[in-house]
Amino acid sequence: MTSYSAPAKVILFGEHAAVYGKPAIAVPVSSLRAFADVHPEKHGKGLYIEALDLAQVLPVTVNSDLMDNALIYTAQQVLKKLMAHPPDATIKLTSQIPMASGLGSGAAVSTALARAVAGAVGKKLDDETLNQLIFNIEKFYHGTPSGIDNTVIVYERPVYFIKGMPLQPLSIGTPFTLVIGDTGEAGITRVAVGDVRALYDANPTKITPILDEIGIISEQAKIIIETGNPDDLAPLMTRNHELLRDLTVSALSLEKLITVAMDAGALGAKLSGGGRGGNMIALVQPHQAQHIQDALLRAGAKNAFITTVK
Ligand code: MEV
Repeated sequence: MTSYSAPAKVILFGEHAAVYGKPAIAVPVSSLRAFADVHPEKHGKGLYIEALDLAQVLPVTVNSDLMDNALIYTAQQVLKKLMAHPPDATIKLTSQIPMASGLGSGAAVSTALARAVAGAVGKKLDDETLNQLIFNIEKFYHGTPSGIDNTVIVYERPVYFIKGMPLQPLSIGTPFTLVIGDTGEAGITRVAVGDVRALYDANPTKITPILDEIGIISEQAKIIIETGNPDDLAPLMTRNHELLRDLTVSALSLEKLITVAMDAGALGAKLSGGGRGGNMIALVQPHQAQHIQDALLRAGAKNAFITTVK
């Protein structure tokens, strides 16, 4: 058996504004991963994807028209790109990343699966090709993504992201600690992105300054992160969250966890990802991380994770 994987991600600054070409910052969460394990099978068996968490076994054929299944579609796209026939193998998928939570579980599963399909036919997709492929899959299923999720997940490095621009890796001057709190409420990114679009179309003069300010926050955060003064990110997180609230993508569950984290001593906190549920992040002093994680769990967070950005 050969194992392939891809990490979760969190967006530190700039979600939603990223869709409008504003800069955003995202980092991988390497301790939370999606896995795709390739088990070779007897000649003639064909390719099967076992999604263990969803209790699904899916046959993959080149001509299958199951376009409504993201996993089959991903495998087909990889085979097409590599001009390969389906190998005789079962690919078993598992994931530690909560679904519909803003942590990029869909893009991470697609990335791990694409790597596994390529591996099963004895090939490797370079990161640039893989990133484009996963972006196309994201577009097919999620409407108008900016590309930030696939980029940070495929390259597994902190990025300063501007839609359509070449990759800009971000160097972390001084490592810093985040606590991620999962509300347990599904946040459907496609819906939240569509609602922000409707808001923008209805009142561009009101929404444009909000998106512009979020972009400026990302620019300021980039400098702070690179020069190694992460505590100075705290007020930017608070302000970014207020602006996301103005875009209507916060939720009572997110507000609650943010308040709990701040009351427990976090330096700053905001929602992360599409919002409307999903996850929040809190910037914390390392010695307080455990305490804040416990406070979030006591307050009803479904999961809480500690991660160091480095
Ligand atoms: C989702 O993780 C981030 C959003 O900005 C959408 C996108 O950029 O594709 C909400």
